[in-house]
Amino acid sequence: MISPFINIANLTKTYKKGKTSITPLENLSLEVPKGEFLALMGPSGSGKTTLLNLIAGIDSPSDGVLEIDGNDIRGLTRARLTKWRSSHVGYIFQLYHLIPILTAYENVELPLLLDNMSKRERKNRIDAALDLVGLSDRAHHRPTELSGGQEQRVAIARAIVHDPGLLVADEPTGDLDRESADSILNLLDSLANDHGKTIVMVTHDPKAASAAHRTLHLEKGVLIKSES
Ligand SMILES: Nc1ncnc2c1ncn2[C@@H]1O[C@H](COP(=O)(O)OP(=O)(O)OP(=O)(O)O)[C@@H](O)[C@H]1O
Ligand SMILES: [Mg+2]
Repeated sequence: MISPFINIANLTKTYKKGKTSITPLENLSLEVPKGEFLALMGPSGSGKTTLLNLIAGIDSPSDGVLEIDGNDIRGLTRARLTKWRSSHVGYIFQLYHLIPILTAYENVELPLLLDNMSKRERKNRIDAALDLVGLSDRAHHRPTELSGGQEQRVAIARAIVHDPGLLVADEPTGDLDRESADSILNLLDSLANDHGKTIVMVTHDPKAASAAHRTLHLEKGVLIKSES
């Protein structure tokens, strides 16, 4: 049997602050096959970002199984987790998080600067990533000279420049008009279908969710299958 790309079983996350504690995720189980584009919906505070951060290795679970592409994420030391994350996960945010004083090219270059890589190899990768998101002609523009949709494309290029197998996106179209949102969703769809990326996308927008292969709803830390 081929194990799923994301394998989550009985995952629990508790945040403790002083005497109070909150458990946004309790005994959550989820399997995502490689190359699936999964949408995650649910009310505010239902634990969507918490789950994304666990899947991305940014935060650590309190209990349960968390395996990505056969790696037991919980078994990694902090240093190894950071290294694993930088080469295996791309994170896409609602508000792009681009550095305003850097060009599109330089923003995409950032994650590669930590690697021991020749300038030529870096350039090849950045050019390929910008080409894939359709922004080769905007490489030397700064974020303020780009539309929101274009800024999100730069952010996606930055997320895929390391060629990670996993992309997590937290409301990636939340700040975009319908047309730009649709083109970002097409891009994500193509990253899953044509490039084999596994994508977990949080969204509040049912139309965005309908672009994904499958939609799950998170309600008080429990996953519920979509009716549609
Ligand atoms: N670092 C933290 N420390 C303490 N509590 C936290 C932390 N992060 C999230 N929480 C709590 O966990 C719960 C789930 O938060 P989360 O951000 O995952 O919700 P969400 O579904 O992403 O909501 P939204 O749709 O508003 O983004 C909330 O009650 C939140 O206050
Ligand atoms: Mg959130």
